Amino acid sequence: MNAFEELESNVRYYCRQWPAVFSTARGSILTAEDGTEYLDFFAGAGALSYGHNNPLLVEVAVEHLRSGRLLHSLDTKTVEKRRFLEAMETRVLEPRQMDMVIQTVGPTGATAVEAALQLAQRVTGNRAVVGFNGSYHGMTYRAASISASMAPRALVAHVKEFVALPYVATVTDEDLALLEYTLDQTIDGQKIGSVIIESTQGEGGARPFDPLYLRAIREQCTKRGILVIADEVQAGVGRTGAFFSFEGSGLDPDVVCLSKSISGLGVPMALNLVRRSLDAWNPGEFSGTFRGNNLAFATSAAMLEHYWADAELEKGTEARGLVVRTSLETMAEEFGQGAFEVRGNGLLCGLDVKDTALASRIAAGAFARNLIVETCGAGDATVKLLPPIVIDEDQLVDGLGRLRDAVASATRAL
Ligand SMILES: Cc1ncc(COP(=O)(O)O)c(C=O)c1O
Repeated sequence: MNAFEELESNVRYYCRQWPAVFSTARGSILTAEDGTEYLDFFAGAGALSYGHNNPLLVEVAVEHLRSGRLLHSLDTKTVEKRRFLEAMETRVLEPRQMDMVIQTVGPTGATAVEAALQLAQRVTGNRAVVGFNGSYHGMTYRAASISASMAPRALVAHVKEFVALPYVATVTDEDLALLEYTLDQTIDGQKIGSVIIESTQGEGGARPFDPLYLRAIREQCTKRGILVIADEVQAGVGRTGAFFSFEGSGLDPDVVCLSKSISGLGVPMALNLVRRSLDAWNPGEFSGTFRGNNLAFATSAAMLEHYWADAELEKGTEARGLVVRTSLETMAEEFGQGAFEVRGNGLLCGLDVKDTALASRIAAGAFARNLIVETCGAGDATVKLLPPIVIDEDQLVDGLGRLRDAVASATRAL
């Protein structure tokens, strides 16, 4: 019996792109049960920024499991949660002068987004949401509804109080005028309560917004009492170099959604950072059985303490990001005939080849060369590179070489 084909739902997806049966993993290498090794430039869709089975964090996890400590704790007080809260404060919030409280939620990015939207509604009394084309916020009813341009919007009924603005690479006066106009609109009888943005879009195709536009969002929202929600589920926790992808932009969000790599080890965990003055929840008003994953608290605290005590990782990610973008520029020049576009921020990078079939051929060609990459963006025409941010430079260069061969062969075939 082929368990996967006979027993799993038709909805399965990644296993169709990468039909290996994986058995072990370490750092940036995945090993299949037949012994074949793959370089992983996908990193659990951004949940494994610190690599598979990061040895430091595995040690913490094993120690945690052996010691009889709590695994599940809802939102009761535990030793691990205290250490995690203190690590977030000392390594992340305080150095960035962010006066925010931490709301742990059920363990998915979509849950964090849902909580952020509910809080914005609670604070402002307004339900309508402004988002952006190409954004992705998750698969719950409301998160899918505000994930503009995603297929789910066409497939399921969706909440109506939502409007998507265009992505802005370089801000123009027109963009600013449209932003101001939109924020003043009433949608389906509802005023705008929040703007939600991925400062660097992940599923949208590795697209960073113009920092000047992010600043304008903050200014215009402040004028109107609208909350700014930064969805950092994919781009946060160091993926773009800085801990948050909006750092230095002036976005200064009211709520920050974090998940994916926040546990460091790739175990489920999600939370929102909420501006202290907007923490309007009543006790128990937003709940979730699995919002107290102590294994995740333990590994997250260790990750924050180890990697965010200084600027080494941030600098390293920026340097590696430059290596990737330079290499992608060369591929674009060599094979793109002026049509390809290189995008990215830190190690959230993409090569937009403007052609669905070509992108899919490149990703398949990469897999044939034991390199794992996925496609995303408008028309699935962007080959996205999301290697672990702790990847060795040799492995990075090796993977880029394999990608180059895949691009060369796919463009030749067309
Ligand atoms: C930016 C962003 N927000 C939210 C989500 C949803 O996270 P989850 O799949 O954990 O619900 C994702 C997932 O890819 C994401 O990239």
